[in-house]
Amino acid sequence: MALRVLLTSFFAATAIAVQGTAQVNLSSNTGNPEHLAAGFIYGIPDTPNQIPDYFYTDMGFKYGRAGGAQVPAPGRGWIWGLTEYKNRFASALSNYQTTLKYNGTFIFLLHDLWGADSTQNSTAPYPGDNGDWSYYDAFLTQWIQDMKANGATTGLVIDIWNEPDGTNFWNRPQAQWIQMWGRAYYRLKMDFPEVQTSGPCLANAPESSDTWWTNWASFVSGNGSIPDQYDWHMESGSGDMQTSVANLNTILSTYGLPQRTININEYAIYNEQVPCGGAWWISQLERVNALGLRGNWLSAAALHDFMAGLVGKPNAGTSAYNASGGGYWPTAEFQVYKYYTQNMTGYRVATTPTSDISGDVYATVDRTQKVARLLIGARVTTGNWNIQLNGLSTIGLPTSGTLNIHTYKFSGNSGDHEQEFDGTTDLGVYGHTYSGNTVTFPIYQTDAVTTWAFEFATG
Ligand SMILES: *[C@@H]1O[C@H](CO)[C@@H](O)[C@H](O)[C@H]1NC(C)=O
Ligand SMILES: *[C@@H]1O[C@H](CO)[C@@H](O)[C@H](O)[C@H]1NC(C)=O
Ligand SMILES: *[C@@H]1O[C@H](CO)[C@@H](O)[C@H](O)[C@H]1NC(C)=O
Ligand SMILES: *[C@@H]1O[C@H](CO)[C@@H](O)[C@H](O)[C@H]1NC(C)=O
Ligand SMILES: *[C@@H]1O[C@H](CO)[C@@H](O)[C@H](O)[C@H]1NC(C)=O
Ligand SMILES: *[C@@H]1O[C@H](CO)[C@@H](O)[C@H](O)[C@H]1NC(C)=O
Repeated sequence: MALRVLLTSFFAATAIAVQGTAQVNLSSNTGNPEHLAAGFIYGIPDTPNQIPDYFYTDMGFKYGRAGGAQVPAPGRGWIWGLTEYKNRFASALSNYQTTLKYNGTFIFLLHDLWGADSTQNSTAPYPGDNGDWSYYDAFLTQWIQDMKANGATTGLVIDIWNEPDGTNFWNRPQAQWIQMWGRAYYRLKMDFPEVQTSGPCLANAPESSDTWWTNWASFVSGNGSIPDQYDWHMESGSGDMQTSVANLNTILSTYGLPQRTININEYAIYNEQVPCGGAWWISQLERVNALGLRGNWLSAAALHDFMAGLVGKPNAGTSAYNASGGGYWPTAEFQVYKYYTQNMTGYRVATTPTSDISGDVYATVDRTQKVARLLIGARVTTGNWNIQLNGLSTIGLPTSGTLNIHTYKFSGNSGDHEQEFDGTTDLGVYGHTYSGNTVTFPIYQTDAVTTWAFEFATG
């Protein structure tokens, strides 16, 4: 959410130019596309059907995540009393119902329903203060009862607490969070076994030197409170998925923990939410088979609107902004997710990023349609880099000849993420001669916004 937005200009200024060659191994089938990265946190209006259906279905909406954050008084959550809890719960329940309408899975944010949504004051209570858990136990009792009373028991994942390693959301000792973890985990298993759990939900990616990670891993290993999904956030503007998953695996093996689905349920800083940055994140998440939800950098009512930057509407970001108004249009990044979900059919193939990890590619091969498709992305930087396709003969092409590649451009505007973009630009077909069963072609990344898709016929 919006508090860390100030960091983004720093990271944008330090972005390193992309160079080198990203590779696509056409012989290596990595499974069916499931548009793993097509989720977002908040962004759903609390009024059902306010954003037309096709925006959700076209981008392949797969995962939602909310808990009534920043709903104003009288909707500030549990720590302000039962009425404020109920009003906040109504927001989250509505977002849950919208998510299920599109067959998505919903991650319920208990910390926001509690009221620790980063707007809480310095005297706000936290679960387990002074060793007394009764107020938290009553919160869980109320919430479980309300979920069941509303039939809200399917398609649910529970984040036990969001970003306890940041004082915006958890201004208490680490040990108190870990005790809450064990307590909440078993309470849910006993009284609400239909739900899945996710954790540790740390702001920082896994590192063996990070005691929030290691103390939690050590505890859940001994306590048996292993979540259904391991989740964390990638919102620092640095780090990458291969490194952070390798670090997770080191921690898992140190503490004897099993593999689980990985969910990066907040990814990309604000500056990365442009076509090239979005495609870079898609490539990163798909490679490691991690689910992903776009971070949301809006606040207050706008946090509950705009699908985390995938749609815009009149007066967005101005004093005339109308939270319940309509007139939605697609943004630049919407076109990236639409292509990713709707067009990239068949099976995925293995790819490798440039050695500086600033240039990446997601690729699919559809042998029925006889088309291979690439969606490339640079991490909001400029430079000249290359794409290398290997193993052309494994998709029925000759080992030498001319490969005719059809290019589509995704434009955007780094200064206005909510500008309307209604489609891609067809840049036509260019033939690349090749030999040795491999072809390499250049990418001239002259701005840190634009990205491209490439398509060519298979045999
Ligand atoms: C490409 O994929 C094939 C099949 O999985 C594998 O044997 C080969 O090592 C891969 N090549 C590269 C360069 O990754
Ligand atoms: C959701 O799934 C049901 C059952 O598979 C299907 O009939 C419906 O069309 C799906 N809805 C959407 C929005 O994908
Ligand atoms: C601070 O927040 C708590 C709820 O967490 C509330 O009871 C209290 O009145 C607030 N204090 C001030 C000064 O607003
Ligand atoms: C797990 O930890 C919680 C919190 O400390 C504790 O209440 C519970 O008894 C523990 N369960 C097991 C099986 O160790
Ligand atoms: C906001 O939009 C809603 C829905 O279109 C409309 O009913 C309402 O009058 C608008 N409010 C203002 C202040 O324009
Ligand atoms: C994506 O698929 C749709 C539906 O088949 C098609 O109309 C559109 O032209 C395709 N877009 C691109 C860029 O190929």
